[in-house]
Amino acid sequence: MREPLIMGIDTSCDDTSVAILRGRDDVLVNLVSSQVEFHRPFGGVVPEIASRKHIEVIIQLIDKALEDASVRLEELDAIAVTYGPGLIGSLLVGLTVAKGIAYMRDIPLIGINHLEGHIFSVFLSFPELKFPFLSLIVSGGHTELVLVKDVGEYELLGSTRDDAVGEAYDKVAKLLGLGYPGGPIIDRIAKGGDPFAINLPIPAFKGRTLDFSFSGIKSAVYYYTKGKEYRVEDVVASFQKTVIDFLVMRVKEAMEETGIRKLAVVGGVSANTALRRRIREERIEGYFPAFAYCTDNGAMIAEAGYYRFVKGEISEFNIEVNPSLKLIE
Ligand code: KG4
Ligand code: ZN
Repeated sequence: MREPLIMGIDTSCDDTSVAILRGRDDVLVNLVSSQVEFHRPFGGVVPEIASRKHIEVIIQLIDKALEDASVRLEELDAIAVTYGPGLIGSLLVGLTVAKGIAYMRDIPLIGINHLEGHIFSVFLSFPELKFPFLSLIVSGGHTELVLVKDVGEYELLGSTRDDAVGEAYDKVAKLLGLGYPGGPIIDRIAKGGDPFAINLPIPAFKGRTLDFSFSGIKSAVYYYTKGKEYRVEDVVASFQKTVIDFLVMRVKEAMEETGIRKLAVVGGVSANTALRRRIREERIEGYFPAFAYCTDNGAMIAEAGYYRFVKGEISEFNIEVNPSLKLIE
């Protein structure tokens, strides 16, 4: 039998992404149209602008994806699309277009949870990775530590109680006037700083938990820098070290608790070079997807779609967007 051709679409936040996957892990094309220039003046994503920009580019992006992959629309076997979590207006654009194509071509529509997409992004770079494994989802909207037992079988071990880790990077960069998005900027500037220059506390929780919290670290940076001279390289290097210490501490606790040693690190912050280095230094069996699959992309949605498709798990056509969709209901 011919390998299925699945189109994956993600419009959950500020990137319009379209990919075409052949079989389990042959990414024929993975296009991302970034809106970052339009949101930069505001120092964060403006939902109204995001949905308008998705509308403007999505059809052209789909056409370009088909052209680049030398695939005709008639050849697609299924269409996978993010239906949550994310910004409601943004999600609506992707889902509506996907529904239109699925209806017109009479092919299966597969609604994908964006977080499941991030989890499956690891298979694009490591197709041989076997269940079970731990997945640390670190992005602008999410910080979740998940035990991935099988397709659709997830146990949430811990999540953030306030800001997501990428959000903390973005907010710290904003308060230091470094630009947007903050993650890649801090990653670069921190290389020239002393990570031990400033002592920023890792938040303590009552009782046993694998949860995270980053707003206190961000506030500590604010109070440290308020009204005094500082070396920005040292501040961001110390911030980054504290964040990574915290992530690594939780990962080790989760390994202790579950006995699982394999760790996939996914989502935008998994692109962070210091985090990657630290996981290696700690001799943790870490799996980081290629950079293109770390930040939001359509290939990871198509990948999750493939696993659902082969199990016959197709969505109803009346599926609706769910901006606050959870990984585990
Ligand atoms: O996964 P993603 O593209 O979108 C969400 O689903 O949120 O993640 C975007 C986040 C932003 O907060 C950005 O600052 C962060 O990922 N990020 C990074 C790096 N590259 C992107 N954070 C730290 N280091 C990086 N190199
Ligand atoms: Zn994401």
